Amino acid sequence: MTLRTLESLGDLKGKRVIVRCDLNVPLKDGQITDDGRIRASLPTLNALIHAGARVVIISHLGRPDGEPDAKYSLEPVAQRLSELLGKAVVLAHDTVGSAAEEAVVGLGDGDVALLENLRFNAHETSKDASDREQFAAKLARFGDAFVSDGFGVVHRKQASVYELAQQLPSAAGLLIETELDVLERLTVNPEQPYVVVLGGSKVSDKLAVIDALLPKVNTLLIGGGMLFTFLAALGHKVGASLLEEDQIDTVKGYLAKADELGVQIMLPTDIVVASKFGADAEHVVAPADAIEGTSFGASGLGLDIGPESAARFAEVIRASKTVFWNGPMGVFEIPAFAAGTLAVATALSEIHGFGVVGGGDSAAAVRALGFKDDQFGHISTGGGASLEFLEGKRLPGLEVLGWQ
Ligand code: 3PG
Ligand code: MG
Repeated sequence: MTLRTLESLGDLKGKRVIVRCDLNVPLKDGQITDDGRIRASLPTLNALIHAGARVVIISHLGRPDGEPDAKYSLEPVAQRLSELLGKAVVLAHDTVGSAAEEAVVGLGDGDVALLENLRFNAHETSKDASDREQFAAKLARFGDAFVSDGFGVVHRKQASVYELAQQLPSAAGLLIETELDVLERLTVNPEQPYVVVLGGSKVSDKLAVIDALLPKVNTLLIGGGMLFTFLAALGHKVGASLLEEDQIDTVKGYLAKADELGVQIMLPTDIVVASKFGADAEHVVAPADAIEGTSFGASGLGLDIGPESAARFAEVIRASKTVFWNGPMGVFEIPAFAAGTLAVATALSEIHGFGVVGGGDSAAAVRALGFKDDQFGHISTGGGASLEFLEGKRLPGLEVLGWQ
């Protein structure tokens, strides 16, 4: 079976359509700092509005504890969504209670309501399938059909992603279709040279994807906090930098496997080493094999790849035809440690090929650094979801829509 798409739901005029979006955007002091996920949800929402459906949007935001918490209200999202759609978005102040019911009953054809954060209800994420089924049934009362378009959560077996899709006629939305097209381009005969750039803080988050990608790529570039575990695997001291000691042996295994496969794992040759973590830290550039050789000694910590490495990484990226990038190269939120991430993003925006920014922190990083979405082949809305797809895992939120 292949993915069921919107057409499979037939004429939606006057029908109540529940749409699961991933509107989990980063917030700072109640302000949305990156509205990428809201913008990515617009094509499906506009298509449904245009079709005259009565649109009931559901989403999570953050990880509240299964009960209402004002900090995680979708209020700012409702406001931004309304601006972007150019029409009113009614926010219901609960998810399956009387406020939600009232909002849904009040919808006319082409109107839009947003129900409050799904995760204000403990059953949404319960490990117990019958809890999730019960919660999904409460949601299902509000719809005649269900559209799943929250690509960022398709790797989660949660009520609004998995069980709800089984309780109503269901199909994937346009965002999920787009994201899958991109991921297929990365996995089925990607044009070579194929380079994957991995960063972010933990190697342990990336082990499965390294394992799955090693036989497929020409070069793997490693930056971010995880690079120090690689340096340690080569026998270098890394000062006070992030280090996952328990992963050193696994990483040694990857280095050996890469050798065997003729894949290049490229590590930084220089590192920006800081006296401490913070915007006011002193910092110097040191060779990657002599991080403790600076005046900070063993307390120095690496917070970005150095300029020589940034230039080498950029060169490799520019010469490739397919690039997937997940995870910042350094602490990009602090200007002194943003240069590595900026160099990678710039090179990716300039390639004559297909460059994909893979979700989460990397998507936030490119936007924070001032790039526009159309400077890249694609910016994914799913960090964990796209990694798990590339790992070859079966994703519950896709399988339930017929994807195999
Ligand atoms: C994300 O931001 O990773 C998605 O919205 C999924 O959220 P979660 O990791 O809290 O399940
Ligand atoms: Mg996540």
